[in-house]
Amino acid sequence: MIINKANKDVISEIKDNGYCILENCFTNEDLNEMRSSLLQTLNYIKPDGEQDLQKKYYEIRNYDRKLKGNWYDIAGKDINLLRHLHSQKLVGIAKEYFNTNVIFSGRPCIGVYDDENVHLLEPHQETAQMSRDNLLFWAPLYDTNKNNGGLSVYKGSHKHGYFDHKIDSIGKKVWTKEYTHVDPKVSAKFKREDLEIKAGSAILLISTCLHCGYPNKEKDSVRITVCERFNPLQKIPYLRDNNASMRIPYTGVDYNKITD
Ligand SMILES: [Fe+2]
Repeated sequence: MIINKANKDVISEIKDNGYCILENCFTNEDLNEMRSSLLQTLNYIKPDGEQDLQKKYYEIRNYDRKLKGNWYDIAGKDINLLRHLHSQKLVGIAKEYFNTNVIFSGRPCIGVYDDENVHLLEPHQETAQMSRDNLLFWAPLYDTNKNNGGLSVYKGSHKHGYFDHKIDSIGKKVWTKEYTHVDPKVSAKFKREDLEIKAGSAILLISTCLHCGYPNKEKDSVRITVCERFNPLQKIPYLRDNNASMRIPYTGVDYNKITD
């Protein structure tokens, strides 16, 4: 991983805008290693030597949706991916941002958004972590754009603390009981920007910054991302209250009242 910006510039951009784009932080070699690892795992499910990760993804989705989901779940534990997500440089930025020497891995995972667009989230802040505030790292393995879909951010939304999140469905098919988002009236107050982040580049976003996905319009294309949430040793109820769960619940907690 190569990050061309100085840590202090990355940090001040996040503080000003809610996020910072890390241009070309992964080399082609890094990207190929991650893609290849995911492809090999899919080929383990049903071996046939397919060499294209996106094609293989659709093949497995058509073959067995449960196993496709299992692949998704196990991918976040793939050390070839974790090695990149936990690069010293990236963790160093998180340490400096929060002014702490201890950072926890909040939830490494992949994001997979295919042409069904059922996993798109409504605007939300990055909650249900161990620490109240965290830095989300999000890196696409394929270019994201108006065709393939991508990540949207709401400018200036990180300057107002945490908003209430709801679990109720907003009238469309949802895929998780933990599905959670802010009231559309809240996100409507901010300007939405559909980011077009290219493969190899990534974003670091502060947890208070409202974000969501925008749809993939291209049939047979799948947007695969690698993600992590860097949780600092700060504002962790689990280490202060022996009744607290490790993850701060999505709802029923006033996030703004969690302090050290
Ligand atoms: Fe999110």
